[in-house]
Amino acid sequence: MVRYSKLAFRQTVFEYGTDLCWTPMILAKEFNRNNFARDSDFTLSTHGTQPPTIVQFGASLPLELARASSLAAPFCSGVDLNCGCPQSWACAETLGAALMEKRELVRDMVVETRERLRQDGWDVGKEKDMNSPKGRSVSVKIRVHKDLRKTMDFITTVLGPDQDRHIDFLTIHPRTKSTPSSTPINIEALEILTSTFGDRVPILVSGDVFTLNALPFTSPLFPPTFTSSSTETEQPPPTPLVNIPKLAGLMSARAILANPALYAGFDACPWEAVETFMNKVARAPLPFKLVQHHLSEMCSPGLGPNKRALLTRSERSAMMSCQNMVDLIDFLDEKGNISRRTPPV
Ligand SMILES: Cc1cc2nc3c(=O)[nH]c(=O)nc-3n(C[C@H](O)[C@H](O)[C@H](O)COP(=O)(O)O)c2cc1C
Repeated sequence: MVRYSKLAFRQTVFEYGTDLCWTPMILAKEFNRNNFARDSDFTLSTHGTQPPTIVQFGASLPLELARASSLAAPFCSGVDLNCGCPQSWACAETLGAALMEKRELVRDMVVETRERLRQDGWDVGKEKDMNSPKGRSVSVKIRVHKDLRKTMDFITTVLGPDQDRHIDFLTIHPRTKSTPSSTPINIEALEILTSTFGDRVPILVSGDVFTLNALPFTSPLFPPTFTSSSTETEQPPPTPLVNIPKLAGLMSARAILANPALYAGFDACPWEAVETFMNKVARAPLPFKLVQHHLSEMCSPGLGPNKRALLTRSERSAMMSCQNMVDLIDFLDEKGNISRRTPPV
């Protein structure tokens, strides 16, 4: 997530069961040209756990993506091309969602990148190299078109031949470039795309993954799990959910920001996740305002059905008025002690 998924946050979500962490979208052009851009965009752990990380690039030229990937490969598990960012500045530079109209270019970018990684000595044999320490993935994250046939053509081109497909996995955000995130994801499009391509490439879904026990579809790999931090009884969903059997993974953005313990089965952010995050921040520092913003997300009601918040509105406002890290830590210590003494009702 642009602005947010920095090292301390990635380490926090990894501690709570996230298998793969993404960096924010990094502009390949800047990454290639500037050492400082590399250091600030992609912080590494020099001590302790480096979570399995996918470095996501924004790029519009095969050579730019291949070079940036070559620089990132020693420090990550794989590289991903963003074909979903809808922001106008990105589209004007043929980055992000603009690439959904350039399927041959996207194919050329992933083909050149895979080849470059192979030449650099990395194992790029997809499933064959999954357990190799030198295994590196090349993947793509997309949105859908209004006319789903265009998305089918896009995926067909980018995948290439079945016997040696060009990408390791595909993440689908089933909204168009202009669909607001308040509109539910297009489950029908997801069902069609996964049933058409799910046997040929592992597909992850991005969008409306709010809690594991309230996904907007059913899927055999993701049966509901429940580690509730509340005593509320969950209501059964009003209509039967569509089954998406050929789904390989879930990606969460807004909800994991609010609840980094989402993949551990928590349906609302537990206080211990706040403490874990602050411990990570102490070792992998973030700008103060960013820390405050993360905390505000974690201490507000989340996106799932459980709307319990760690702090009341006025407590959150007091937290936001802290002027420095020392005051903020003191504030959290005090609230944390109270929260541990009084379990939520
Ligand atoms: C603050 C924020 C930053 C994001 N940054 C990125 C990004 O860098 N790359 C990307 O592919 N998607 C990015 N997204 C989009 C999400 O990955 C995701 O596709 C979208 O938010 C829908 O998922 P959600 O319902 O889990 O939020 C971002 C979303 C948010 C809210």
